[in-house]
Amino acid sequence: MAIRSIRTIGDPILTKRSKEVTKITSRTKILISDMLDTMYDVGGMGLSACQVGVLKRIFVVDNLEEQALILINPRIIAQSGEITDNEGCLSVPGKHGTVTRPAYVKVMAYDEEMKPFEIEATQMLARAMCHEIDHLDGRIYVDLVEGELHDNYDLAEDDPY
Ligand code: NI
Repeated sequence: MAIRSIRTIGDPILTKRSKEVTKITSRTKILISDMLDTMYDVGGMGLSACQVGVLKRIFVVDNLEEQALILINPRIIAQSGEITDNEGCLSVPGKHGTVTRPAYVKVMAYDEEMKPFEIEATQMLARAMCHEIDHLDGRIYVDLVEGELHDNYDLAEDDPY
C-alpha cells in the first residue's frame, strides 16, 4: 500500500493532456494500486493519474461497490440530459462550486488487462466520469463553475473527486 501526494491547482501538470496507455507494465499496475490507496486514504470519489503526477490516461472512481472502477483511455461515446450540482476536486482543497454536467454518459474504456468495455453512468457517477476525463485533458472543474467557488464547511462533502 502506498499513498501518493496529490498535486494541487497551480501545478502545471494538472493543465497538461495525459497520454494514451499503450501497454500495461508492472509500473502501470503499481500506479493504479497506489491511485486506489490514495483515493481511499483521502476519502475521494475519483482520482486521475495526473493528480499524482503521472500523465497517463487512467482514472479510478469509487462507485461505492466492492471494487472501484478503473478506466484506461476512457472516451465518452454517448451522453444526454444535464444536471447542475455541486462539485469539488481533491486538487482544489476546501472548495466547491456549481457545475452543469450530462445526466447520463456511456463511456468506452480499457481495463487493467487492456480489454475494452463500456459503462453507463447517471447522476453522481456520470459527473465523476466527466470530471475525471476532463483531468486527463488538462482541464479542472473550476473553469466550468457557474458563479463563484465556495469554501467547504461541511467536511462530509469535502473534495469528492
Ligand atoms: Ni478532480
